[in-house]
Amino acid sequence: MTRSARRTERLAADRAGVERAARLLRQGGLVAFPTETVYGLGADATRDEAVARIYTAKERPRFNPLIAHVASRAAAARQGELDARARALADAFWPGPLTLVVPAAPGGSVCGLARAGLDSVALRVPAHPIARDLLEQVARPVAAPSANRSGRVSPTTADHVLADLDGRIDAVLDGGATEVGVESTIVACLGPETRLLRPGGVPREAIERVIGTALDVDFEEAPGQPPPPAGPVRAPGMLASHYAPRARVRLNAWEIRPGEAALLFGSPPPHGHLVAAAALDLSEGGDLVEAAANLFAHLRALDASGADTIAVAPIPDSGLGEAINDRLRRAAAGR
Ligand code: TXA
Ligand code: MG
Repeated sequence: MTRSARRTERLAADRAGVERAARLLRQGGLVAFPTETVYGLGADATRDEAVARIYTAKERPRFNPLIAHVASRAAAARQGELDARARALADAFWPGPLTLVVPAAPGGSVCGLARAGLDSVALRVPAHPIARDLLEQVARPVAAPSANRSGRVSPTTADHVLADLDGRIDAVLDGGATEVGVESTIVACLGPETRLLRPGGVPREAIERVIGTALDVDFEEAPGQPPPPAGPVRAPGMLASHYAPRARVRLNAWEIRPGEAALLFGSPPPHGHLVAAAALDLSEGGDLVEAAANLFAHLRALDASGADTIAVAPIPDSGLGEAINDRLRRAAAGR
């Protein structure tokens, strides 16, 4: 295996493919794999030099702490200190699209670079059967940000991964399209407050039902506005333009202007649908779960249409709508 991969293997998600992927990861290689949210770009989270390759491949400008993916709650408990509140959240949502930021456990093996030098660690037990198989075989934590080049839209298929990273990573495990479509919800259980660091695949309301109180919100809710005071628990990966496609993105579009590409939500389509250069509906039936699953693939497809602007229909802010609107605001913040 070359250190800066020249050829990226596309591995079938069968027994041989998963075994090959696990071997590459244990050797310090980079392997993209499906989770239920988006494809992750995996590296051995216990080795700084393996994690460093993630940054090279993604061309990420700065070191953010990464999520360490583990196969089980027991494996998570070896890496981080889960208090009663974190355990309740783990019981309710693991395996699944929830990431918990907790104090790093004294005997934990997640390396300093994966934690960006913090004394906390972000842990997630994904639900995707291929991810779980892979993590069991690797038998150590796997750091995995989304498998896209920095600043681009997150990948929800193996083709998206290759469009950004072909020749820069060792392999991609092809598990088809991901189900949830937006990244995991990140919740910090560090001090007395429980903080929402990133809205995602588990709706805020569902988390609040488990902890019995409102979450403190600790992310930049409206890019362009002054960020809240920086503190060690903010999610530094939440750059305003993190999810930008090439086209300009116009939000809350009640009408589509000639030449614009249209990202619709539910029928009937807004006035002007017929003049759109390209139009895709996130969910004809107005279902936010379906909309989240389609979000990044539709953004990519509309971007590829060549239109200068993607006009986005209004999307309700409840349930998964909070994560969808968060990603869309970041896309609209542009670069
Ligand atoms: O759905 C997902 O979460 C995907 C899939 C592949 O699992 N992964 C993902 O990972 O989005 P990543 O590494 O891009 O997300 C890391 C986020 C960043 O915003 C980072 O700043 C935050 O988690 N984070 C990680 N460790 C943290 C820590 N100790 N304190 C605060 N934020 C942390
Ligand atoms: Mg990402």
